[in-house]
Amino acid sequence: MKKALITGITGQDGSYLTELLLDKGYEVYGIIRRSSSFHTGRIDHLYRDPHEQPALKLIYGDLTDGGDLSTVVNEIQPDEVYNLGAQSHVRVSFDMPIYTADVDALGTLRLLEAIRTIKNPPRFYQASSSEMYGKVVETPQTEKTPFYPRSPYGCAKVYSYWQTVNYREAYDLFACNGILFNHESPRRGETFVTRKITRAATRIKLGLQKDLYLGNVDAKRDWGFAGDYVEAMWLMLQQDAPDDYVVATGENHSVCEFLDEVFGRLDLDWSEYVKKDPKYFRPAEVDILLGDPGKAKKELGWRPRVTFKELAQMMTEADMKLAEEEKILKDHGRG
Ligand code: NAP
Ligand code: GDD
Repeated sequence: MKKALITGITGQDGSYLTELLLDKGYEVYGIIRRSSSFHTGRIDHLYRDPHEQPALKLIYGDLTDGGDLSTVVNEIQPDEVYNLGAQSHVRVSFDMPIYTADVDALGTLRLLEAIRTIKNPPRFYQASSSEMYGKVVETPQTEKTPFYPRSPYGCAKVYSYWQTVNYREAYDLFACNGILFNHESPRRGETFVTRKITRAATRIKLGLQKDLYLGNVDAKRDWGFAGDYVEAMWLMLQQDAPDDYVVATGENHSVCEFLDEVFGRLDLDWSEYVKKDPKYFRPAEVDILLGDPGKAKKELGWRPRVTFKELAQMMTEADMKLAEEEKILKDHGRG
């Protein structure tokens, strides 16, 4: 049985990747942070009864603690490590630049050091990001497009990208960067724009919310489905040689188009509800991203399956269920 270690297992991607690896017969170890409240909601369905799912094990740890990462890696001796843990919110990275660098940049280095020093180093996946292209120097972006990060988050991810390449070249590690463009799902954090929109639109439809405050609605992103993208992560670590790959749909849309899609589906006109709030604008913005997934398609045989419209529909339907539950509680005086 292959062993995989995942940082960021409680996040959106961590939960989909765990499902995929358990399905493939892996023993999955996840590093979780101690928290004063439960934050394992995205993986509870996999973990609730350890007797039903003995192949999933959670261990306390943190990317800011290198000694601890070393102990965990040494104890588990994993075959594959997926580094998905991060302070992943771009806007927040402007408020917390040092912390973001500690987790998203140095955290990767700590983990690379931990795996380099064991006898049989595991294969390593780094969650690199299209945010590294920032103020894009060419469109579409490929594996060869130079980086121009526009946020503390983007800068930290560029650092981790190059450390991953460097450990591959210096120590012959099987280390890969997946340069993933935005990917969403019903499990997306509620402060990212797509989920913020589907949550708000469905709540507005049921009279639970009046307005939706947003920042730059002209930004364009190449949005795919997280469930499709974790498959690409796994495929990268199954190849004969390590390499870096862009994972994207090859199609982009504006935030306005996402609003059209979601509010339109609910027979609402978003311009009646959406208001601008300066706090959601960024000091430096990434206006437009568009990825070319040609290499991943050719070499990994990977394909995105869910379209933009299907993604908006999937997220709207899931959030409508949540809003309906909320409405029932409210109507019974418990909301
Ligand atoms: P997410 O939902 O925000 O999940 C982030 C995960 O990292 C959570 O499990 C979080 O734990 C964990 N984490 C945060 N700080 C940590 C620390 N100090 N030590 C250990 N773990 C820590 O992010 P995601 O959307 O799944 O993205 C996964 C990875 O891909 C991230 O590295 C992100 O930057 C990168 N990425 C994402 C996208 C995208 O569009 N989703 C695109 C490109 C790259 P808690 O639950 O305790 O907060
Ligand atoms: N979050 C947010 N909230 N974004 C808003 C809002 C708002 O109220 N209003 C407009 N936007 C715009 C942002 O300015 C940005 O241009 C776009 O919507 C997308 O924002 P996010 O959904 O926060 O995603 P992101 O592109 O900044 O970052 C995500 O994708 C990266 C890959 O390119 C994150 O998942 C990163 O972790 C990931 O690396």
